[in-house]
Amino acid sequence: MAIREIRHYPDSVLTQKGEEVTSFDADLQRLIDDMVDTMYAAPGIGLAAHQIGLALQLFVIDGAVKDPEHPIIVMANPTILSQEGEVIDEEGCLSLPQYVDHVKRAEKIALAGRDRNGEPFTLEGEGLLARAMQHEYDHVQGILMLDRLSPLKRSLYVKRVKKLEKIRAHEPAVAG
Ligand code: CO
Repeated sequence: MAIREIRHYPDSVLTQKGEEVTSFDADLQRLIDDMVDTMYAAPGIGLAAHQIGLALQLFVIDGAVKDPEHPIIVMANPTILSQEGEVIDEEGCLSLPQYVDHVKRAEKIALAGRDRNGEPFTLEGEGLLARAMQHEYDHVQGILMLDRLSPLKRSLYVKRVKKLEKIRAHEPAVAG
């Protein structure tokens, strides 16, 4: 088990559509364990494979957002079965550091997918779980929270990132 580096916007992997998971082998089990470790270390409540550099349809969610006793949720190859309602609430993303904004999401959602052993299952969520499910579902499609914001808010964030990149580029190299 290991903590992996989290990719930040504008890393191009974040905007790629994920490949379907086809092999639920030992390598995948290790990858899932690393994703869980990386999520907890961040700390975050969910993490998609894209965020550690792999464009795969795979995400994990801290089950505690459903109830304190709930185990980790692992889902591969998610599809949307149903969604209803609308709610606007605060949201953040480990790939968009130091940024929180209000995002409109469905109030309830049901996803179908595969668990870590490749077995099909469905996951229903509302509240924070529904929000996390939609956020991670988006990630594996190559969609970021930024894409759910108004064009103005999106462009303000993009400008901010570009400015920070410029500042960093002008910093002298650190020796040692
Ligand atoms: Co995110």
